[in-house]
Formats: sequence, structure tokens, C-alpha cells
Amino acid sequence: MNAQELIDTAKKLVTGDKGLLAMDESNPTCNKRFAKVGIPQTEEMRRAYRELIITTPGLNESISGAILSDETIRQHKKGGTPFVKAITDTGIIPGIKVDAGTKDMAGHPGEKITEGLDGLGERLTEYGQMGARFAKWRAVIVIDDGLVPSRGCIEANAQALARYAALCQEAGIVPVVEPEILMDGDHTLERCFQVTEEVLHTVFDQLYRQRVMLEGMLLKPNMVLPGLACLKQETVNEVADATVICLLRAVPAAVPGITFLSGGQSAELASARLNAMNGGLKSRLPWALSFSFARAIQQPALEIWQGEESHVLAAQQALYHRAKCNRAARRGEYSAAMEKT
Ligand code: 13P
Repeated sequence: MNAQELIDTAKKLVTGDKGLLAMDESNPTCNKRFAKVGIPQTEEMRRAYRELIITTPGLNESISGAILSDETIRQHKKGGTPFVKAITDTGIIPGIKVDAGTKDMAGHPGEKITEGLDGLGERLTEYGQMGARFAKWRAVIVIDDGLVPSRGCIEANAQALARYAALCQEAGIVPVVEPEILMDGDHTLERCFQVTEEVLHTVFDQLYRQRVMLEGMLLKPNMVLPGLACLKQETVNEVADATVICLLRAVPAAVPGITFLSGGQSAELASARLNAMNGGLKSRLPWALSFSFARAIQQPALEIWQGEESHVLAAQQALYHRAKCNRAARRGEYSAAMEKT
């Protein structure tokens, strides 16, 4: 492990007010999103869609790193250029999702555990040779009626995240550590705050035990939000306040950056909430507050594309726009007016 390289890469991923583009949906998830807008669910369509994304003119103005899936990192542009080379040539750093997805957790009804630690060291070496400089592992935590999450689930997921992060650093790859508390349900913002705080404390405790160097990693958390079905939906500023307070309590200042997932928020709300954190509250933040959105960047483009060659340019414009809005949000310069231009 070259500590300085890890530190430099982690910093590079959050400098210049840029953020990450998560385009690492597993094949089943990608197919599900294709099916919703009537796009054929084939390997070639997934390849074509990812080519549309990475060839978007000007994407590198707002995006520092792109997270790929195992299928995508092996794919090529129509002309034969490997995706990894095409991405690297634009100055965007390639990353790779390395978890093997979630499974129902034994003995814990309604809860999930993320798998994929077996053989991970070898896979990371291979991905490193292919050009990946950072990685992602997502743990999923469900809130339900105050009964879950259980300590067992939080601890097992936190330990897996920490073991993944240690293996990444050993392979010279920056780990993006993603504990996601899902928005599904009718829980309140206060409950999400409590659970997020507990999960983050547990994750950082495990990262410490597994000897992960905090300066050479990024955290990818959820924002602190009320459940989607909760009757009380707080304002943008209330969400920004709660999220920043929670993170200040639980995330050590040695971590260079926090790159939020969007988690099912609308594209505009995700930008507005990130903007509010980077606007009024910036002087309180020891880390860069950035984004690592999938849906909140891609969804409008996917809906425009619909699998049609003739829609590629318009879809790329929509993708460019969302990336630009989120870069503006990192500076606290995003406004609703940007959506009309
Ligand atoms: P969303 O932004 O759509 O939540 O996806 C982020 C991600 O990478 C999930 O693992």
C-alpha cells in the first residue's frame, strides 16, 4: 500500500467542486430501470447506455470519478476503445463496485447483509490492473417501526464495510464506504437521524479496528431524511441542518470527503439539499461535502434516451445539466432558476 497515493486519489475525487457519478447498477437493477421506460434489457443496450454516459461532452467539468460495474469495466466503445481508457482520457478517475449485492440476513427478518468478501483481495488486484483507482461497497439498513435495524445487522454490515476498506487500501485502491439507510417507510427525520448516527459510529469504530487509514477513504452516506411515506416532510434547510449535525457528530475530520448517495430523492431535491449544506453551513464542515449520485444524475437522461440513437444528444445534454447542477450545489451556487436554463 502506498499511503500517499491513496491520500492523493481520495483528495482528487473531491477537489474542484466535482463529484462522483455512480453508473454501477448491477445488471438486474439496470434492467429494471430500462424496463420502466421500455428499453430492451440486453447486454448491448446496457453497453450503449454506458457509452452514452461516458462520452457526454464536458462531463469532466463536474465529474471527478465514475463508478463502474464488473460488466461495464470490461466493455468497449463501439469503435473498440475500452471504457476505462475512454474515461481516463477525459481525466475522470475510474472506480469499481465490488460488493456482490445484498441478501436476506439469517436470523434477522426484514434485514439485509452485503456479500462479496470472499476472494475480494484477488478481485481488487485485477481491477487495479484494469485501471480502477477507487471502489465502492454498499451496505443497506432498513428502518421499520422502531424494531429494526437490529444491532446484529448494523454490526455485521459495519464489519464487512471495514474489512472491504482494509482490503482496498492494501491493493492501493481508495475505498468508498457506503452505509445506506433506506428512505422506504414512514419513519420520521428524527428516527433517520438516530439510526444514521448509530450506524456511522459503528462503521467508524470498525474502520478503526480494521486499521483503515481515514485520510485515504471516502464516506458515501444517505442524507438525514424522513421516510418517503412520512406525513411530515421537512424543508430543504431542515434536512441540510439535520444531516450536517449528524455527520459532525459521527464522521472524523480526517476523512477528506463525504459523497452522498441520492437514494430515491428527486434530482432537484438532491441538488437543493446538497446546496443548502454547502451554502450556509460550509464554514462548519471539516470535510468536502460532495455527491456520488446515480439516479439523481442519470434518471432524466435515461428517460429521454429510451434506447433511441436519435435521442443520444438530448440525453447527454440532460446528464451534463444534472452534473453541472450538482457541481453548483457543491459551491452553494445552485438555484431553482438553473433548472429553467
Ligand atoms: P443513488 O444515487 O441512485 O442512490 O445510487 C447511488 C449508489 O451508488 C447506490 O449504491
